[in-house]
Amino acid sequence: MKLWGGRFKKEEDKQMEDFNSSLHFDKRLYKYDILGSIAHVNMLGEKNIIKEDEKVSLIDGLKEILKDIENDKLKIEGNYEDIHSFIEAKLIEKIGEVGKKLHTSRSRNDQVALDMKLFTKEKTKLVVKSIESILKTIKDVADKNNYIMPGYTHLQRAQVVTFKHHLLAYYNMFLRDKKRLLNALDLLDENPLGCCALAGTTYDIDRDITTKELGFNKSVDNFLDGVSDRDYLIEITSSFSIMMMHLSRLCEELILWSSQEFNFITIDDSYSTGSSIMPQKKNPDAAELIRGKTGSVYGNLFSLLTVMKGLPLAYNKDMQEDKIHFFNALDTVIPCIEIMDKMIKTLKVNKENMKKGVKKGFLNATEVADYLVNKGVAFRDAHKIVGEVVLYCEEKNSTIEDLKLDDLKNISSYFDKDLYDFIDYENVLKKGIKKDML
Ligand code: ARG
Repeated sequence: MKLWGGRFKKEEDKQMEDFNSSLHFDKRLYKYDILGSIAHVNMLGEKNIIKEDEKVSLIDGLKEILKDIENDKLKIEGNYEDIHSFIEAKLIEKIGEVGKKLHTSRSRNDQVALDMKLFTKEKTKLVVKSIESILKTIKDVADKNNYIMPGYTHLQRAQVVTFKHHLLAYYNMFLRDKKRLLNALDLLDENPLGCCALAGTTYDIDRDITTKELGFNKSVDNFLDGVSDRDYLIEITSSFSIMMMHLSRLCEELILWSSQEFNFITIDDSYSTGSSIMPQKKNPDAAELIRGKTGSVYGNLFSLLTVMKGLPLAYNKDMQEDKIHFFNALDTVIPCIEIMDKMIKTLKVNKENMKKGVKKGFLNATEVADYLVNKGVAFRDAHKIVGEVVLYCEEKNSTIEDLKLDDLKNISSYFDKDLYDFIDYENVLKKGIKKDML
């Protein structure tokens, strides 16, 4: 069933009809479409654009349709162009002629803009909730595992850190992700209903009524912008992409740390899988999948940007495609954060192996240089002396702390026995602002 056709002489090509239809993906907007319509009808009634009894039967009809869909009595399927046409057609079937008044002073352009905003607001808040949950998990796991570990740059052992501090780096990243989403939610919080097709309407509507009923901050200022703004979808998908990048970096570390080579952590069996041929294998598939799905969300961001690029104002049918990409991004990020949350919650930290990792790689070399600086050596000279110490250790297959004081004194007379305490790994962590890592 079509909402248009009066000016057409020929039937639409069947393939074109399917090509044009978005029902199979925009059906998930049904609730927001109905809530938007109820607010619209309430406003039409209050402004005497429709009669009171018309308002009542339109609203009753819409509420029944919502119930029927939710109880699975009404299936969203059939030959309809989109969810908006489907619901309007079902309303007319249900309440008769008066149903035809629903679309007074409204276009599908402001209708779809509204539905998407309502949908996005609700779903993005769910993503914020899952970020809050992972933030809590990270904090808990970090606090419980305040163990010494090697810190890396260029994936080479660099200086000593704690597992807690390493994990809390992700806390800060996810906190920024949350703020980015909250900011995007704030920016999008303007009601586009009432913009109509692109140019407002000659009816004396009151946009403040629907704005209030639907819980928006304000009505949009500009009608053309109101119907054609998809910035918020791009912005949220961009924030999702950044968040996926964070998740993916964490995945990379979990994958490395759980390998035999590192053996710093053990990923719980529930988030690992086996090999069909190698009986001994336990693979970190959950982490690999999150890392892999990051690419799909980046793809959605680029698809959205490309859909919108070059579109003249105001609405263009290209925009129907926005849903496919946004829905996919949303449906990807939610399970990714949830699985990561559970993976972090259940992982085991192999404290002893991390400690062993600290022993090799001269992770206290920088502190040896700091020691010399405290004794009056200029840092650049101290750097050179410690370089020689490291070379000597490599020849002797020793660590710095295991060298005899005489050997150290042969390289520089500034070394004394208080060095050993100064460069002890546990002590190193207690000094200066490094205390913040504990
Ligand atoms: N299904 C359309 C979409 O998602 C609804 C708006 C259609 N507007 C129009 N003028 N044909 O964009």
